[in-house]
Amino acid sequence: MEFVKVDVKDAVATITIDRPKALNALNTQVLKDIAAAFDSLDLDEVRCVILTGSGDRSFVAGADIGEMVEMDSAAGKELGRVGNKVMRDIENFPIPVIAAINGFALGGGNELAMSCDVRLASDNAIFGQPEVGLGITPGFGGTQRLARVIGNLSKAKELLYTGRNIKADQALELGLVSAVYPQEELIPAAEKMASIIAANAPVAVRNTKAAVNRGLQTDIDAAIEIEVELFGELFDTADQKEGMNAFLEKRKEKNFQNR
Ligand code: CAA
Repeated sequence: MEFVKVDVKDAVATITIDRPKALNALNTQVLKDIAAAFDSLDLDEVRCVILTGSGDRSFVAGADIGEMVEMDSAAGKELGRVGNKVMRDIENFPIPVIAAINGFALGGGNELAMSCDVRLASDNAIFGQPEVGLGITPGFGGTQRLARVIGNLSKAKELLYTGRNIKADQALELGLVSAVYPQEELIPAAEKMASIIAANAPVAVRNTKAAVNRGLQTDIDAAIEIEVELFGELFDTADQKEGMNAFLEKRKEKNFQNR
């Protein structure tokens, strides 16, 4: 992988997009490397992922404008398909993905962050979907996810139509991110959250992610059925027995086995 680094420690994988010369902009190779990085993870070992950008200025400054400038509509559609698949695969990745947004999250960068389960930001982070100023729409899910993530159609449309950027505190106010930290505290905060997630029963965390994601795609009655299935099947797992026996035996240490 040319532009992405993977580091696994204590059941937490940190995937770092590393193309600092272009503020970690997403060209075709970066997209391929991100997909390969997720594919490389051993889900028997890894229980949570942190996705971040290298350096202290940028998470991802968007899709690569130099690569897009001469594209025709066929190439644009192909790029949209490829980029959207990467985003959707992250959204559907079986274990939680925390975006640690350490600077610019513009265009495809904000779309990448929105594909993650939880967004934490540094106080210098800048968010936006500036695509209309470049003569395009957001193309990696931004027209669909922004309103869903912030739950405010008026604000989402305002940001999409004006293309204006917002700072971390405004992103927090809108619910685009869960928390904002000084730059040096961002990764430790993401690691702390990841380790708390990783200490829970992996089968339960996976089913919880699946229940939330799949349930959001359907009506409430069908969604409740999805929950019933995913809740019920856990009662055949070793981790359910371990979690409940640990409680009843007043044991703090739990030996979850991911099955
Ligand atoms: N594509 C390609 N290169 C980019 C880039 C991008 N999205 N963003 C930054 N870079 C490059 C710059 O061209 C520059 O390279 P050179 O040194 O070779 O000139 C380098 O990164 C540093 O950038 P700047 O000199 O511009 O740094 P700055 O501090 O003055 O500005 C910035 C930072 C505000 C993020 C500015 O770089 C910027 O506006 N970038 C573009 C942001 C953008 O429009 N993103 C959306 C792209 S479209 C998209 O993402 C479509 C989609 O939905 C899929």
